[in-house]
Amino acid sequence: MPTNTALFEPCLLNSTLTLSNRIVMAPLTRCMAGPGLVPTRQMADYYGRRAEAGLIISEATVIRADGQGYPDTPGIYSQAQIEGWKTVTEQVHQKGGKIFLQLWHVGRLAHSHFSDRQPVAPSAVAFEGSVPRMRDLTYELPRALSAAEIEQLVADYAQAAENAITAGFDGVEIHGANGYLIDQFLHHDTNHRTDDYGQTPENMSRFALQVIDAVAERVGADRTGIRLTPGAYTHMQADARDRAVFDYLLEELNRKELAYLHLGIFDDSLTFDFLDGRASEYLRRHYRGTLIGVGGLTPAAAAEGLVQNRFDLAAIGRPFIANPDYVSRVKQAEPLVEYHQDMLTELV
Ligand SMILES: Cc1cc2nc3c(=O)[nH]c(=O)nc-3n(C[C@H](O)[C@H](O)[C@H](O)COP(=O)(O)O)c2cc1C
Repeated sequence: MPTNTALFEPCLLNSTLTLSNRIVMAPLTRCMAGPGLVPTRQMADYYGRRAEAGLIISEATVIRADGQGYPDTPGIYSQAQIEGWKTVTEQVHQKGGKIFLQLWHVGRLAHSHFSDRQPVAPSAVAFEGSVPRMRDLTYELPRALSAAEIEQLVADYAQAAENAITAGFDGVEIHGANGYLIDQFLHHDTNHRTDDYGQTPENMSRFALQVIDAVAERVGADRTGIRLTPGAYTHMQADARDRAVFDYLLEELNRKELAYLHLGIFDDSLTFDFLDGRASEYLRRHYRGTLIGVGGLTPAAAAEGLVQNRFDLAAIGRPFIANPDYVSRVKQAEPLVEYHQDMLTELV
């Protein structure tokens, strides 16, 4: 029996969601939305071609105008955007697939170029560097959110989640990873607050938990997943004190009965001293629900992770850009086309 058969076992995610296999298409920003950040017919075809995945997670999708940090990333806050996404979800469903929408606010990685507004963040700490794909735009100093603005943001996440369900998505993934807004609250490098949202693990987890509760209340915990980056490997500096924040947050997540927890990392062979090993191992030790592993997984490594019970589902990113028919190829043990960055210029 080929070792990768574990990838093709169905997964009962919860009482309302069954996935036909354990391969998840990881969220992949493509910067190809149309005017008004509306998803296009080409995007619907692109996702439709990948509907064999047990679950597709959409590219990160901005919940409101000041959450945008890259050109032409889709939104989920206008009626036109909801209508555009309907063409995507219809295609995926027609082909027997399932798709969640990734809810995104980039926080301090936003730019006034996109929304005419100063970026907002937990604290007024700028990220050094320039906006990808727009090298002449350097990151701006963000403004620290007030408590009232945080409350509004939580409501905006819930509204965006509802919009996603209206657009036909099977659920939503809260983007709490990769140094964006929610992750900025979870790390000492970017959270210098002295109010109820800073300094202690409980306070630093508060925003993430409020968003999770508001979204789960609106669309159901069974339709809510979250992506987290305990390793702080991008857009911020790791700090050994962050560990206590994630210890606390994960214990709270154990009570929420979410659809899943999804690791965010490009290479899961990386080890972190303050996490006592790999980020996926750390999450597995602390989180008792369904875990999605990711990060440089070959089909064999993904299958091995499932067999060894290191995660329950395997997310595949770059290989899915290079191979729209990734699932069939792996099933039939056909060779995969190797990913190359040049493939990002076209939506194949
Ligand atoms: C072009 C590109 C776009 C990405 N966009 C997102 C995104 O929108 N949201 C997200 O959480 N991760 C994003 N990621 C990270 C992937 O979801 C995934 O974690 C990463 O590529 C590692 O998996 P892989 O080794 O199978 O590619 C992106 C990665 C790439 C290469």
